[in-house]
Amino acid sequence: MPKARLTFEDINVTVTVPAGTRVIEISDKVNAGIVYGCREGDCGTCLMKVVSGWDHLTEPSVVEDRVLREHFAGRHFRLACQAQVLGGEIVVKPA
Ligand code: FES
Repeated sequence: MPKARLTFEDINVTVTVPAGTRVIEISDKVNAGIVYGCREGDCGTCLMKVVSGWDHLTEPSVVEDRVLREHFAGRHFRLACQAQVLGGEIVVKPA
């Protein structure tokens, strides 16, 4: 199974995780500063900035896209509870 290296810039922690993992699952475990609410792509609390590796995340769903627009989130922002890693190197931090 492909693996991804996911770095949480705010706490300077990098972990190797299997493809398909949602960012929130890991940020929760390593105590990164990304906060969350619904975990269902609805509230927008888990907004994060993708510092690099944008291409190594799944595309936003229609639901996520709507929430991102509602929060006037720029192109490099994603919902941590929705974005899944695909592989490669990804760096994120709280929005
Ligand atoms: S926790 Fe609510 S949108 Fe991610």
